[in-house]
Amino acid sequence: MTTLEETAIRVTGIEKSFTDLHVLRGVDLDVQRGSIFALLGSNGAGKTTLVRILSTLLRADGGGATVNGFDVSTAAADVRQSISLTGQFAAVDEVLTGRENLVLVARLRHLRNPGAIADDLLRRFSLTDAGGRKSAEYSGGMRRRLDIAMSLIGDPPVVFLDEPTTGLDPEARIEVWGAVKQLAASGTTVLLTTQYLDEAEQLADRIAILHEGTIIANGTLAELKALLPPAKVEYVEKQPTLEEIFLSLVGRRADRAATSGIDRASGAQEES
Ligand SMILES: Nc1ncnc2c1ncn2[C@@H]1O[C@H](COP(=O)(O)OP(=O)(O)OP(=O)(O)O)[C@@H](O)[C@H]1O
Ligand SMILES: [Mg+2]
Repeated sequence: MTTLEETAIRVTGIEKSFTDLHVLRGVDLDVQRGSIFALLGSNGAGKTTLVRILSTLLRADGGGATVNGFDVSTAAADVRQSISLTGQFAAVDEVLTGRENLVLVARLRHLRNPGAIADDLLRRFSLTDAGGRKSAEYSGGMRRRLDIAMSLIGDPPVVFLDEPTTGLDPEARIEVWGAVKQLAASGTTVLLTTQYLDEAEQLADRIAILHEGTIIANGTLAELKALLPPAKVEYVEKQPTLEEIFLSLVGRRADRAATSGIDRASGAQEES
């Protein structure tokens, strides 16, 4: 059991129904500070519902949760000060450039030096060269990185990413993974939802599976693997995955790109 200071998110017995649909039936989980926690589940499992409860957009019917030490039901304002939420659909203003979007959010948050904050985030997310272009012209991966960058203004200690890479191509997904890894490396706690099992494998320190309203498994990848009988040794021809083929044809290696920080990836130019 971890202490409260080490626990960024604590969920105990959360229940939520929509009329007669009992979506969450007693969800328990803890997320350690500075870790990446992946919540897996099929469509309709209740992942977004849980994220909405943790970000105070929705009230639970029962149970409780704390985020950054604050109770979501009694200290909602403190919770909101502690978090950012990036939903599945990017919240960027397409009329503005990438840099203008960042400056706007920094201004809205009454931060000093909005321009410097914007430039720093553009650099961290490999968007410096694209910063002066209208975000309407960005690719899906660039837009998603800008969206995550916007949500980080003000340095929230806890970040919720609801399906951060849905709809992105493999290269763009790897770029987002790099950004998420770097976030956690700098001490930010990340709770992400995903339907991509490889995303959880690549990114998460811990993985939980939400199924029929409860967490049916929760552990490190190694712990989850140990739930199944030990692997049998079989001799089979190793076929490359389609993802490996795609990435090798376009000149990237999944493992190399995913482990490189986004700073290093900034050598790759965004613009054609
Ligand atoms: N505001 C709402 N009113 C009624 N039903 C809702 C509402 N929000 C969610 N639901 C239902 O609750 C269930 C869980 O939805 P939720 O969006 O949390 O699932 P999810 O795990 O995020 O799914 P997906 O992977 O498709 O995003 C679904 O059956 C959904 O239709
Ligand atoms: Mg969802």
